[in-house]
Amino acid sequence: MKKINIAIDGPAAAGKSTIAKLVAQQFNMIYVDTGAMYRAITLYYIEQESEDFDRLVKEIDLKIVLDNGQRVILNGKDVSERIRENDVTEKVSYVASKESVRTFLVEQQQKLADEKNVVMDGRDIGTTVLPDAELKIYMIASVEERAVRRLKDNELRGIESDLEFLKVDIERRDQYDMNRDISPLVKAEDAISIDTTGLTIEEVTNQITELAKDKMV
Ligand code: DC
Repeated sequence: MKKINIAIDGPAAAGKSTIAKLVAQQFNMIYVDTGAMYRAITLYYIEQESEDFDRLVKEIDLKIVLDNGQRVILNGKDVSERIRENDVTEKVSYVASKESVRTFLVEQQQKLADEKNVVMDGRDIGTTVLPDAELKIYMIASVEERAVRRLKDNELRGIESDLEFLKVDIERRDQYDMNRDISPLVKAEDAISIDTTGLTIEEVTNQITELAKDKMV
């Protein structure tokens, strides 16, 4: 079987990471959650209270430990749980719009994909990070369904949230991510759209697994 890279992009809470993880498991591939990398820089930005993004990225030592799941180590500290909290979620789209932040992370993401075959999820994977990925998926779902999924996710993580607030926050982030100047969220021309509204995790995983198998022969 031919080795391939799979890029999964789409708006906030469309189910990308859950599905990407399962697809990676099926093929014994590495799963990379690039949103977590933007979240780690956002946490550092909050801690430093500085708008000097050139300086912030120079000071950051970001390690992505890819074993069973993904751990994010920021300057020696495991921040995998901390980066899911509301203050980080609120500011991450702003931080992700900064050029020095994107240049820094895109380089790291491309290095990860150079070393291993990956299933990588984010906003600009098919358009910018891995434009040659053999399979590109653009995953969408209704705002209502995405908010309900995020609510359940947050409950599991012990993060307090409210459905109406989540809806507003998801729409706000979509607008921000789609309208920024550098690598905005957009479907790559050669990406396959999957609307996951009303579909189960298993159904979506199977769809992508079948598409991937076709690319591997
Ligand atoms: O996938 P997520 O919700 O954890 O991503 C957090 C934010 O990071 C998202 O609102 C936009 C940004 N992001 C990005 O700009 N590019 C990526 N490849 C991944 C995430």
